[in-house]
Amino acid sequence: MLETHPAAARLKLEPDGRWTIHAPAKINLGLRVFPPRPDGFHDLETWMVPLYWHDTISYQDGPDLSLTLSGRTEGIPPEPDKNLVGRAALRLAERAGIAPRGTLTLHKVLPPGGGLGGGSSDAANVLVLLNRAWELELDAHDLLAIAEALGSDVPFFVHGRSALCRGRGEVMTPLRVCRPLFAVLILPPEGLATGPVFKVFDEGRRHPDRPPTDWCAWAGLDARALNHAIVNDLEPAAFHIAPWLETLRDDAAAAIGQPVHMTGSGSTLFTLTGSAPHAADLSARLGTALGSRATCVPVRILRQR
Ligand code: C5P
Repeated sequence: MLETHPAAARLKLEPDGRWTIHAPAKINLGLRVFPPRPDGFHDLETWMVPLYWHDTISYQDGPDLSLTLSGRTEGIPPEPDKNLVGRAALRLAERAGIAPRGTLTLHKVLPPGGGLGGGSSDAANVLVLLNRAWELELDAHDLLAIAEALGSDVPFFVHGRSALCRGRGEVMTPLRVCRPLFAVLILPPEGLATGPVFKVFDEGRRHPDRPPTDWCAWAGLDARALNHAIVNDLEPAAFHIAPWLETLRDDAAAAIGQPVHMTGSGSTLFTLTGSAPHAADLSARLGTALGSRATCVPVRILRQR
């Protein structure tokens, strides 16, 4: 049941009667992509981990459903039927057979279009929040079915913990983060749309055959070894669309003398380390080397007990 899921554990009832939940970002510690399926989607394998970096959603009960946006809202349509948060609320109400109600507030911190899953996380966490606030008691299976229809990464955030994701991303097996892991995110000002990256992958922009990934072995590696092992099959396609991203990756790796990877379909890049002070140091060095070409953010990768 969802009560035992970390996503539900992030849900809080404030003294003023508002419900709040954090919607964390994720990165992909490796991404393997297989040929397209008859439905056009791609089966994939990826180790997704949530980060200590999040949007915040709150809910106050009231008669009609409304959505208020604050923070980094550029590019997010404010109408509830046009963005993922509102669509998640409407789908949930429809599934439960109730009229949608109350005021949702989304405080946006995570950048859009970066492969960090911010929109998907917002949608998933709204499902978890409203399931409780509206006293629906839908089980995880029901919430995951709604999540899947909203986007490939949404089920991961309903589940809310480090997992090996297969299928379109919705078939999840818990894969624990065993070692302390910190990432430095390298955020270019420009995002990349997911669909076109997969399309260019289909046109043959991919690495020549690489051996299958032994994900369980990866989970036991320390940050340094893992950082050397990571492969993202979408990099050649993303770099074909955005050659500047490959240059940024190469310059970032040269500045710190360690590998730098793309998360998801880009455009965010990251590198791993095993300690907070080293992450801060790498972030400062990358900031100096890259200047206005990217914003660098050191973050901790969430570990479950
Ligand atoms: O499901 P989501 O909205 O994240 O997917 C965006 C686009 O990315 C899809 O329309 C599809 O072109 C591509 N995609 C894919 N295979 C996946 C996930 C996404 O082809 N497993």
